[in-house]
Amino acid sequence: EKGGFASFMDKEIHDQPQAVHDTLLGRMDASGKLVLDEMHVDETVLKSIDKIVVIACGTAAYAGQVAKYAIEHWCRIPTEVELAHEFRYRDPVVTEKTLVVAVSQSGETMDTIMAVRHAREQGAKVIAICNTFGSTIPRESDAALYTHAGPEIAVASTKAFLSQVVACYLLGLYLAQLRGNKFADEVEVILEELQQIPAKISALLERKQQVLDLARSQQDTQSVLFLGRHVGYPVAMEGALKLKELAYIHAEGFAAGELKHGPIALIDSGQLVFVVLPSQKGRDSLHAKVVSNIQEVRARGANTVVIAEEGDEVAADYASEVIYVPQTTTLLAPLLTTVPLQIFAMELATAKGLDVDQPRNLAKSVTVE
Ligand code: F6R
Repeated sequence: EKGGFASFMDKEIHDQPQAVHDTLLGRMDASGKLVLDEMHVDETVLKSIDKIVVIACGTAAYAGQVAKYAIEHWCRIPTEVELAHEFRYRDPVVTEKTLVVAVSQSGETMDTIMAVRHAREQGAKVIAICNTFGSTIPRESDAALYTHAGPEIAVASTKAFLSQVVACYLLGLYLAQLRGNKFADEVEVILEELQQIPAKISALLERKQQVLDLARSQQDTQSVLFLGRHVGYPVAMEGALKLKELAYIHAEGFAAGELKHGPIALIDSGQLVFVVLPSQKGRDSLHAKVVSNIQEVRARGANTVVIAEEGDEVAADYASEVIYVPQTTTLLAPLLTTVPLQIFAMELATAKGLDVDQPRNLAKSVTVE
């Protein structure tokens, strides 16, 4: 059932082109309009919402953090992401005009279930983004948008993460279309770009040897830092989480701009630092800003591994090593840049002789609060 792979995690990483494809399947009508048949929330309600709150835990919360950038950009609806276990205990401002989006692979995470119940008690509409048909979270929500990533067996989430990002993006595009936002006209173009992602992930997986070699060379590493900016920031945190849970190595993800406000003190000679570099063609000066962050850590002796877009003209000048990913738009880049980080964590753990499917102290779904 592992389909010839060494672990379920390895298989699920390789399932990702299919997972993204399946999450996108059947969402467009003949005219190129996005249709979400499952969206059983009154359109007048969706038109009137004034805030979105994404609630989730762990990797699912990082998917929500990635989506926040896209949803706010496309819909101009203020969007917050909150850890489900924090949400319920701090008297959050939730009204009938709040759309709560509960993201969960299993649909059985107790922290998220309790947050959904709390949100509904306050009168919010709740949409579940879930991978497990008929599980508790979609059953207790007003509507469910399924991710269709297929069963995820390995404890560490991989394909579910990419599918969650895609499903959240579909929701954002749907709202932009419904509410007639500026981006409504571009929905078709963005969907086209999304359709190209599976082939790009496949291309990336074909070149995985570089990441495998890198991981094997880092078996004795005690600490790894991950830097990112904009959507690269939650990607950095996801890369760190994968490494902690699989390889039991101290790892931290930072917003690259935060570096000089403290974390740069951690940088010492030989410190391994992954940097998620945005596209050179992307918005504003994001790329240049992150390049200067690479210079800052490099000047202090860091070993910098940079995830950059193919065709990036400067990454190689600043990095100890560059891992190239295919070109896409700024907002879709996390669907590619996350993949080498998953492979790195899996392979480093494997090289240390650890069980990547069943890391110590962890369960696939956390059904207690
Ligand atoms: C990390 C991981 C966890 C889950 C989290 C939420 O690899 O798997 O952080 O993402 O426990 O689980 P779900 O999505 O089932 O609610």
